[in-house]
Amino acid sequence: MKWRVAALFPLILILFLPLAPKTSQGEWVGQSRCLVCHGKREYRFYKKGGYAKNLYVSLEELRASVHKEKFCSDCHTDVVELPHRGTPSRVSCTTCHYKGNPEGAPQLDAYLEYERSIHGLEAKEGNPDAPLCQDCHGSHNVRPPEDPLSTVNKRNVARTCGKCHIDIYAEFRTSIHGVAVARGVEDAPSCPDCHGEHNILEPTNPESTVYPSHVPTQCSKCHAREAIREKYGIKAEPVKTYRESFHGVAIEFGARTVANCASCHGTHDIRPPEDPLSSVNPENIPKTCGKCHPGATPKFAEGKIHIDPTKKEAGAVYYVASFFKYLTITTMLGLICHILLDLYGRVRRMRRKERMR
Ligand code: HEC
Ligand code: HEC
Ligand code: HEC
Ligand code: HEC
Ligand code: HEC
Ligand code: HEC
Ligand code: HEC
Ligand code: HEC
Ligand code: HEC
Repeated sequence: MKWRVAALFPLILILFLPLAPKTSQGEWVGQSRCLVCHGKREYRFYKKGGYAKNLYVSLEELRASVHKEKFCSDCHTDVVELPHRGTPSRVSCTTCHYKGNPEGAPQLDAYLEYERSIHGLEAKEGNPDAPLCQDCHGSHNVRPPEDPLSTVNKRNVARTCGKCHIDIYAEFRTSIHGVAVARGVEDAPSCPDCHGEHNILEPTNPESTVYPSHVPTQCSKCHAREAIREKYGIKAEPVKTYRESFHGVAIEFGARTVANCASCHGTHDIRPPEDPLSSVNPENIPKTCGKCHPGATPKFAEGKIHIDPTKKEAGAVYYVASFFKYLTITTMLGLICHILLDLYGRVRRMRRKERMR
């Protein structure tokens, strides 16, 4: 009997002594005391209704993260006594992550951007589904974005957004961009390349990166680049040709009803034109252009989109364009000759008059 009490004594001591006051930021032995309970693999808490929450915390995971130097209570600041009563509240990463912090955390304004984003605003209004920092970055396994195991690494971030935006992720995964990202193609876009990271806004907000008139700018970041077209064997020069097209010119003037890249190609389900599921496959042209041009046929798009009239491959368009180009040049030349001859005549007449005087 006696030996049992003796064995239990240190445990009781650990649990029921008040926590030692912090000597300096995070410097207390709390870690091992938390792990008396939270270090057990099968440590569960049964909430009302029989739902079990796993409360196991892996110290190895924390040690492998960017926060390896941090103690439990640096993040769980409201756990100030043991045993702690009730459920501690959610962690606020911004106690350290703000510009000018003395903690050694990166000096970023991510947090200010986040507060103004749709996610930050929704969270502030009490939407329980809106992501806090940890919903994108993880809790005990936070890693720098370039680490392949980070939840926000280029290869993983679509899945992370997809936890909540399930339908969009399902479409994106099978699109040309999604497939390329999964293969590890660094040049292809994942969600943040079009939407941003901490500054994500709803598409109806004129400041959003994907507001209708900003969409061509997003696609241009990559598709205006010769190197990308060559590397991936994309024939058309889509951006310049679009900008010069009727749709492109109209959108420059603020028209919101004309087509931007996404009205024809889709957004999360973009596929190459040869793919029968692509919105710009000839079979689907009546539906795609028909949204705005009722009665469009499969041939409706032929020779009308992404045509660079300065290239011979454009066929008739090239010759018509060339005809008008040379017509313009000869007309201009004629005009200039006319002016020069006229000037010459005037000068001669003036000289003759002078001589007559
Ligand atoms: C005596 C065992 C015990 C010890 C020691 C202990 N906890 Fe807990 N902890 C629990 C229990 C039980 C719950 C579930 C309480 C609830 O949800 O109402 C919990 C819940 C939590 C939660 C919330 C989990 C959730 O639902 O989101 C956090 C965070 C937490 N503990 C942190 C700590 C930290 C930090 C320490 C050390 C300073 C610590 N705990 C020490 C038993 C313990
Ligand atoms: C970098 C900050 C950070 C540190 C350090 C940290 N936690 Fe957490 N912890 C979190 C976040 C974030 C969550 C997710 C819940 C939330 O949103 O608050 C969490 C969740 C928990 C939970 C709930 C179970 C779970 O995994 O969701 C427990 C229990 C917990 N922490 C205990 C601990 C203990 C014990 C330590 C020290 C060994 C510790 N934490 C260190 C940030 C931290
Ligand atoms: C107690 C202060 C503190 C808290 C709370 C905290 N961090 Fe950190 N964080 C740091 C420090 C310090 C670093 C730098 C670590 C290093 O470079 O060794 C860091 C680094 C990071 C990095 C890596 C940045 C990079 O590019 O290397 C990310 C991402 C990050 N934290 C996210 C979070 C998230 C998400 C939370 C909330 C769950 C959080 N932090 C909570 C102090 C904190
Ligand atoms: C909607 C998801 C999302 C939310 C919410 C979010 N982040 Fe991020 N964060 C990202 C992504 C994606 C990246 C990766 C950027 C990159 O690839 O360079 C990132 C990068 C970072 C970095 C590293 C920056 C760098 O260049 O090293 C830090 C630090 C960071 N976030 C902190 C925070 C903090 C603090 C919060 C909460 C105020 C937060 N994040 C909320 C998605 C998010
Ligand atoms: C924890 C869940 C969660 C995560 C993770 C998340 N979001 Fe969201 N997102 C929401 C909620 C909730 C809203 C606001 C309600 C709504 O409009 O759907 C929202 C809104 C949005 C909007 C505006 C939608 C609209 O119709 O106005 C965009 C765009 C968006 N998120 C993109 C992203 C991207 C990109 C990521 C990953 C970097 C991401 N989200 C990660 C939950 C999440
Ligand atoms: C190639 C650029 C691009 C990529 C990559 C991208 N989006 Fe979008 N996203 C857009 C555009 C453009 C819109 C606006 C569409 C509109 O106005 O109908 C949009 C709209 C949205 C919306 C709000 C409208 C809706 O349909 O509910 C959400 C949420 C969203 N995207 C989330 C995501 C997520 C999550 C990912 C990654 C899995 C992602 N996006 C990847 C360009 C992109
Ligand atoms: C971050 C760079 C990037 C952005 C932003 C981007 N793309 Fe792409 N896109 C690529 C790359 C790289 C490929 C080639 C992928 C492959 O072949 O594996 C591609 C392929 C395509 C294809 C298929 C081309 C073919 O014939 O194979 C279409 C169509 C396309 N993108 C349209 C768009 C549209 C529309 C947008 C804007 C809403 C956009 N892209 C934004 C990089 C980008
Ligand atoms: C009015 C509808 C429409 C608009 C607007 C539009 N496209 Fe296209 N796009 C098409 C059609 C139809 C095709 C396939 C036939 C062709 O090349 O003309 C195509 C083909 C493409 C291809 C594949 C070319 C190849 O050779 O494989 C890319 C990449 C592309 N578009 C990107 C863009 C980008 C980026 C924008 C915006 C700057 C844009 N498109 C605007 C209809 C459109
Ligand atoms: C989002 C709506 C929208 C979509 C989708 C769209 N257009 Fe247009 N387009 C317009 C508007 C608005 C005009 C302005 C003139 C008008 O009313 O005809 C226009 C003008 C044109 C013009 C020049 C004017 C003319 O009538 O000769 C051509 C050519 C054209 N579109 C072809 C296409 C083709 C091909 C597609 C499908 C690949 C397409 N458009 C998809 C909205 C759209």
